[in-house]
Amino acid sequence: MEKPKILIVDDNEAFLELFLCLPQTGDFHITPATSAKHAVKILSSEPVDLIISDIQMPEMTGIQLFTTVQDLYPDIPVILITAFGSTEKAVRAVKNGAFHYFEKPIDDKLDLFWTTVREAVAKREMLKKITLLQKEKTFGLKTLTPVIGRSKEIKQVVQSIKEVAPLSVTVLISGETGTGKELVARSIHELSDRKSKPFFAVGCNEFSPGVLESELFGHEKGAFTGAVEQKKGLFEVAHESSLFLDEIVDASSRFQAKLLRVLESKRFTRVGGTLSLSSDFRIITATNRDIQADVAAGRFRQDLFFRINVYEIKIPPLRHRKEDIPLIADFYIRRFSQTYGRSITGLSESALESLMIYNWPGNVRELINVMERAVITCSESMITTKHLPFDTRAVADISDLNLKDLEKFYIELALKRTSQNKTRAAELLGISRKTLIDKVKKYKLGASPQLE
Ligand SMILES: Nc1ncnc2c1ncn2[C@@H]1O[C@H](COP(=O)(O)OP(=O)(O)OP(=O)(O)O)[C@@H](O)[C@H]1O
Ligand SMILES: [Mg+2]
Repeated sequence: MEKPKILIVDDNEAFLELFLCLPQTGDFHITPATSAKHAVKILSSEPVDLIISDIQMPEMTGIQLFTTVQDLYPDIPVILITAFGSTEKAVRAVKNGAFHYFEKPIDDKLDLFWTTVREAVAKREMLKKITLLQKEKTFGLKTLTPVIGRSKEIKQVVQSIKEVAPLSVTVLISGETGTGKELVARSIHELSDRKSKPFFAVGCNEFSPGVLESELFGHEKGAFTGAVEQKKGLFEVAHESSLFLDEIVDASSRFQAKLLRVLESKRFTRVGGTLSLSSDFRIITATNRDIQADVAAGRFRQDLFFRINVYEIKIPPLRHRKEDIPLIADFYIRRFSQTYGRSITGLSESALESLMIYNWPGNVRELINVMERAVITCSESMITTKHLPFDTRAVADISDLNLKDLEKFYIELALKRTSQNKTRAAELLGISRKTLIDKVKKYKLGASPQLE
């Protein structure tokens, strides 16, 4: 993922220099500006995720900058840094929507400072997502990508989506990274009678536990420092819609307990509040970890597991359903050719072989990235192995082989991939176990394949 972009504004160049030397700045892409005017100029030309600004500056103050940002870029959080004498202004700005303020010097509270910075950035990420989703909804800019594939595994996934969508039950989607969990969650929403409302998504690992809680439950004014106004949480906002809780295994035990109560009663209270609220949201959760192992290890509550696992959809990794590769590749080649104005007709045979041999640890997301790069670098009408990023030596060798050798090569590869498990290897190859055993005998295959 790209590093979040922070714009830091201070007329005191020595402060900027010191700031840029802080070790934590390595996690971000930081642009310094020595005046608020300069900052406004930068904002008009490049994307920014967070603004950290001094208050007292000549010409245009940090408060004026904050007001401008609120008008022009209301989704960019602003953290104000005050020197002696301007705290009152900072407090007022926070009341008006600034994310937080810190009094100089900040070096005695760096931990809190960086936690706040990360929370502001996480909030910005969520706002970006929500805005994007609402835009998609309002302008119908993007129709949902279909779940592509012809393997029996993906057909089963599609079948499950159709089956569960009209019901309001909680769904747990599991699968390795990039297998399409979020796509499946959205597809469920789109096929449900909640589809006229926007789909909401939040990653349980995106926020510190306190912030996650307030994002979902909302908070009352004065519930904690910085809670200057009452705020509705996503449980409330997602009324009659779907709420996707991604990476659910990462939720803290406190959050798990609170979530369990909400799921059981469909009622909740805002942080710092006493009013019991109810809302008709549908929860869809996802995890890329083996949640049962977390349950067994006591890291995830079993009772919550049962609650969220009313209906489970498991998405197998791409390497276990390689028949889907040509279809997905083709779909995205067409999509990217359109985006980048290319007239690419498809993949060469050896390029396709290369895609079929590769293991795809990043699953569909990785395949899409590889296709995008290939389309960008391809000026001919067909994508060949030279447009693919991984080692294609094995593929070059194959093009000299005959069909029998190719078969032998695939069988060896399948056995290697499955650690010599003949049942799984046969599944992978789409043949019966008996056929596989016959072929292993025929080719006198041992336990040591030569390629890969
Ligand atoms: N079967 C499929 N057909 C078409 N596109 C797919 C398919 N599966 C996944 N994708 C696309 O692959 C990309 C990654 O999918 P998604 O974000 O849903 O993965 P994920 O499982 O949520 O990954 P992570 O665990 O990393 O969050 C998305 O662009 C999605 O649209
Ligand atoms: Mg995801």
